[in-house]
Amino acid sequence: EFNGIHWPFPKVVAHRGAGKHAPENTLAAMELGAKQGHKMVEFDVTLSADDVAFLLHDDSLERTANLKALASETSWHTLSKLDAGLWHSEAFKGEPIPTLGDIAKCTKKLDLAVNIEIKPANGLDEYTGKIIADQVVNLFKDHSLPPLISSFSIDTLIAVKNAQPKLWLGYLMHEWKNDWQTLIEPLRTKEGGIIAIHLNHTLITTERLAEIKALGLFVFVYTVNDLERAKYLLELGIDAICTDETTLIKP
Ligand code: G3P
Ligand code: MG
Repeated sequence: EFNGIHWPFPKVVAHRGAGKHAPENTLAAMELGAKQGHKMVEFDVTLSADDVAFLLHDDSLERTANLKALASETSWHTLSKLDAGLWHSEAFKGEPIPTLGDIAKCTKKLDLAVNIEIKPANGLDEYTGKIIADQVVNLFKDHSLPPLISSFSIDTLIAVKNAQPKLWLGYLMHEWKNDWQTLIEPLRTKEGGIIAIHLNHTLITTERLAEIKALGLFVFVYTVNDLERAKYLLELGIDAICTDETTLIKP
């Protein structure tokens, strides 16, 4: 429970869309996730050189869009022409990189809840947070559930909170930080702010789970690809599991 509310989202989240069976962070991955029965998707968002918010996991475009360039140094004009599907398989050849606006329309149509992970480029933590927060409020206002915004960057989350204090936030940790309680303090707001800690699932212990729950926060873990492990974590009291194995682990 958090401020008297139960976890408002589905308990299973498709990582980067159905990012194993279709190219991660594309419309095709969101559509396949929905078709497989998923009710919530996670995806990564960053900014182009000319401040267009779009979906990408890495700093570089090389792995998923076959261009040796940094996303933050590439214009949307160039990004919009790249193929984000072919690296995955021939079947997805020509799949474009989606903007945040494209994903908002697609997830609204499919009635998918969203976890928007903001990945700022180096040094652009606050700037990226503010721009994306303002867009998110506008683009996701008609979805059935409010978006859950997460980031590994505290500075990004603080900027999101300052720009849009009603948004729900999750702080991501890949490694356990003993001072996490102090770090998240600035993310508290009356109307929204931090509601969850998003943890690498290997960091979960019953003590840490209790520590987070004692502060009234939800616990979201990534990336769980083993069904028995997923069941174990949900029984332990974890609120949501993010998975690549979208045909094996379902809501
Ligand atoms: O948001 C959960 C998970 O996606 C964080 O790690 O590297 O897959 O974006 P990563
Ligand atoms: Mg992610």
